[in-house]
Amino acid sequence: MANRFIATALPKQLRLATRVQYSAAPYVSMRGLASDASAASSSSAEKVHPPARPLTQKERDFLESAIRVNQAGELGANLIYAGQYAIFKNDARLRPLIRHMWDQEVHHLNTFNSLIAKHRVRPTAMRPLWNVAGYALGVGTALLGEKAAMACTEAVETEIGGHYNDQIRALLEMVREEPELLKRGELKELVDVIREFRDDELEHLDTAVEHDAKGAGGYEFIFNAIRGGCKAAIWISSKV
Ligand SMILES: [Fe+2]
Ligand SMILES: [Fe+2]
Repeated sequence: MANRFIATALPKQLRLATRVQYSAAPYVSMRGLASDASAASSSSAEKVHPPARPLTQKERDFLESAIRVNQAGELGANLIYAGQYAIFKNDARLRPLIRHMWDQEVHHLNTFNSLIAKHRVRPTAMRPLWNVAGYALGVGTALLGEKAAMACTEAVETEIGGHYNDQIRALLEMVREEPELLKRGELKELVDVIREFRDDELEHLDTAVEHDAKGAGGYEFIFNAIRGGCKAAIWISSKV
């Protein structure tokens, strides 16, 4: 049912973005799905040098878990913005703003789709639920108005930005004794991607605050409920 929902309810660009996770196509060709603006942004995923040494099982487990949960998070973010875009697409002021953030999320999702294929990581089994929940959240908050949509964005990006910072800290801690591991190979690729995307998420957070997210009716409830939901989704996706 969820797949049928995706096939019919979502814009073509996002249907393509959700489908490519099964493809082994190279990273560069997948980026063609993003807009010119996001495609022009550089990602160090394209500059991977041979690893300093093979990863240990513990490092490999961390890498796989991080890629799995990040792909799930980026899928959810894409669907939230898709839902908001569906409501605001005729608003000349909001349409380009939502479109810009969504384009960046498409780039994030395509990158983690590529890393899932490259490292043969099993995607989370919760994707069908996140698809429906993300889109419903985007539509629902947008129907409550611009400020509620921005409160949703503030909550989601606060949680995802913090999640990416936690991953960067954990990666740095894991290789504290061998800092050269972050100069080449898979861990460098991952930490560079996470840093770039963390900066994008924090930019989205700033955008939401600048657009008066905190002025939304029921702001505290919206912010805390959505942030709590994101935290739970991240935890579940890291396990299942
Ligand atoms: Fe993102
Ligand atoms: Fe974002």
